[in-house]
Amino acid sequence: MGRLQGKAAIVTGGASGFGAGIVDVFAREGASILIADLNGGAAEAQAGAVGAAGGKASALAVDVTRWADNDAMVAECLSRFGRFDILVANAGLGQRPCALEDMTDEAYDRQFDVNVRGVFYNCKAAIPHFRSRGSGNIVVTASGIALRPRPNLVVYGATKGAVLNLAKGLAVELAGEGIRVNALCPGPGDTPMLAEFMGGTDTPEGREAFRANLPLGKLIRPEDMGEAALFLADDAASSRLTGIALPVDSGRTV
Ligand SMILES: NC(=O)c1ccc[n+]([C@@H]2O[C@H](COP(=O)([O-])OP(=O)(O)OC[C@H]3O[C@@H](n4cnc5c(N)ncnc54)[C@H](O)[C@@H]3O)[C@@H](O)[C@H]2O)c1
Repeated sequence: MGRLQGKAAIVTGGASGFGAGIVDVFAREGASILIADLNGGAAEAQAGAVGAAGGKASALAVDVTRWADNDAMVAECLSRFGRFDILVANAGLGQRPCALEDMTDEAYDRQFDVNVRGVFYNCKAAIPHFRSRGSGNIVVTASGIALRPRPNLVVYGATKGAVLNLAKGLAVELAGEGIRVNALCPGPGDTPMLAEFMGGTDTPEGREAFRANLPLGKLIRPEDMGEAALFLADDAASSRLTGIALPVDSGRTV
């Protein structure tokens, strides 16, 4: 029997990269998944792939920065699967490296809107349901940069620091309600976002530069994030863990 058998999860940003890896692992373990992503077409394709592999997933076009979409996302999970157990707040926006003074107001606002307001809205929409049933599990994708700030990515880093603090504070706020909240802190990932961190183009030299800074010498794969999210979402494995920041980073933050 799968470790998430009978559970229903929402994975934001589940159409690509780390989110898709989390969707695949959760489906393998028996969860029903709502893939909530800005890219509705890619979310449909990912749901189709899960179905073809024998899993259960459906897709919804969601902009996490819009409150109404978050409300609709929880309603859709409940009406589609009859339950909602796990929220993975994973959708995010990368940043092209630049000096702080070169960051525009628009880029700053977009970073905070998607990376912080999005997670705030995801949680705000999920918590009333979790509180009413006396259980729930929230996994937030922060970043290794929240633990080890880097130059030329300071606004992105600030959003991830904010999200990590949000997850930790929320963990204590909800601890008495049977709701756990934990954060994943991935290092550089083998996902489409990596190109953004390379300045817009994914090159072998750029990848090598990232790899060279990793003690294990390996970029983080979507399935690595899937297995880490599974550990945090599986009460049998991690019922005494809340408010933790789990690095999934090939040793980068050591
Ligand atoms: N890739 C890395 O190196 C890396 C490292 C550390 C942390 N992260 C974090 O991991 C998470 C996933 O990143 P990824 O590498 O898989 O990126 P990705 O670009 O492959 O996937 C991100 C997904 O989020 C969706 N998305 C973006 N804005 C959205 C919005 N407003 N509403 C709903 N969906 C939206 C995109 O459509 C996309 O499907 C992000 O939070 C990112 O900040 C990534």
